[in-house]
Amino acid sequence: MQVEASRGPIEELDVQALAVAVFKNEKSDEGFVKKLDELSGGLVRSALESEEFVGKEGEVAYFHLVGNHKLKARRLFLVGVGEPGDYKAAQVSQMAGTAVRSLRSKNVKSVAVLPRASTDAAQTASAVVEGAFIALFDPDKYRTVEKEEKTIDRLVVMIEGAEEKSLQHGVKAGQIVGESVNFTRDLANEPGAYMTPSDMAERAREIANEFGLSVDVLDEARMEQEGMGSLLSVARGSDQPAKLIILKYTPTTPASDSKELLAFVGKGVTFDSGGISLKPGENMELMKYDMTGGATVMGAMRAIAQLKPPIPILGVAPCTENLPSGKATKPGDVVKAMTGKTIEVINTDAEGRLILADAIAYAKKLGATTVIDMATLTGAVSVALGDVNAAVLGTDQALIDEIIAAGREVGEKFWQLPLDKEYSKQIKSDIADIKNVGGRKAGTITAAAFLKEFADGLSWAHLDIAGTAWGDEAKPYRSKGPTGIAVRTLLRIVERASQR
Ligand code: BES
Ligand code: MG
Ligand code: ZN
Repeated sequence: MQVEASRGPIEELDVQALAVAVFKNEKSDEGFVKKLDELSGGLVRSALESEEFVGKEGEVAYFHLVGNHKLKARRLFLVGVGEPGDYKAAQVSQMAGTAVRSLRSKNVKSVAVLPRASTDAAQTASAVVEGAFIALFDPDKYRTVEKEEKTIDRLVVMIEGAEEKSLQHGVKAGQIVGESVNFTRDLANEPGAYMTPSDMAERAREIANEFGLSVDVLDEARMEQEGMGSLLSVARGSDQPAKLIILKYTPTTPASDSKELLAFVGKGVTFDSGGISLKPGENMELMKYDMTGGATVMGAMRAIAQLKPPIPILGVAPCTENLPSGKATKPGDVVKAMTGKTIEVINTDAEGRLILADAIAYAKKLGATTVIDMATLTGAVSVALGDVNAAVLGTDQALIDEIIAAGREVGEKFWQLPLDKEYSKQIKSDIADIKNVGGRKAGTITAAAFLKEFADGLSWAHLDIAGTAWGDEAKPYRSKGPTGIAVRTLLRIVERASQR
């Protein structure tokens, strides 16, 4: 899809369809709506006055323009966006997504989106383009019949009176971000057979070469040398060798000579059967997306390489399968992490924390001072927060607040769960330093309490995205399947950190 920016006027937009945001209860006899009504030959007024369409969030109205109109476009698509006060980047993205997804199904090839947001033109334009790319992603890669073959070839973002440079900049950034979110979703969507740890490493090398990142992939021999017994214990049951992916972005002109290093660490379990503590069969196929945390790190790094912020960023993705076999780690086994801590493995299905333990420690060895890790870590997070909020926990309240604020700006919701030291009692082992499960109570918190043991001396936060990484239902602005949660939040965190 080719993307362009425009400052109008509306009547000159040479596209097949116009998609226009309309606020709740807007009057048809004044301002922009009046003008649009006149240009469209009275259709807008008719829709509003009949109260068929009142501009409620998510409401849509669609017209073919025939006869007496003054637009080059022949179709008009109105999207309700609710109250102006609640209309932020996230809503702009959804508005654009709803429009392009729907218009694509009507075989429209070129669309101009008029988001009508009065704030920052660059951010608004970026939100439109991100929303459009995200909306057009489909998970049907391996379908050969009844596949969605229609495409939108041209997208024009029109913001009246915007400064040309900000508009151009926003459109470009939006495409980078939207494509990178889809990159993450594509990896998460791949079957386990096609997205092994080695495949993840290959994808990491590809983005590093294409966009300019340094890359290092530790094989099992190097993990052995580093003493990563915890990560390696998970890989033991699989024939696919584990890989620890390291991506690094270094700015050409750094903002400062500070020694701060922000690192993203993501769980890359390319298939989680549970191991010897085998999962039940129902829905096990979804455990192909247990590498979403790692894919999120890779998607964010892919965007960062192109957006070129003035601060360095480290990306770490420990990748392995979790399978049962005669070589697999058994419940009751004790393993030794890179930090020297010993871990009693009570349940081999609590493997995410085992691989993250060594990955966080390694990020620290590489100089990380702040670590945000992300993982489809616990089923318990779905019980607590459903598919609406991801959980955030950590040891640095300022960092947690930053994540929640950044998420709010891009429309991704994070809800903090407590991490009082009392919870750590649940992971005390009788035979080793700690054990990898903390019983039935507070499963998301005890998983974080486990990780905390390896985040000593770091400013650290953890995101549990197990409930939010996969959408069971399609939305008007997004297909079902992988959501790409957290990529945009990480990018906003980098942007906010760059401005300090
Ligand atoms: N990959 C799962 C968590 C998960 C569950 C992700 C559902 C997405 C959807 C994780 O490795 C796991 O199995 N966790 C266990 C931990 C338990 C054994 C303490 C869980 O949540 O049941
Ligand atoms: Mg192995
Ligand atoms: Zn598991």
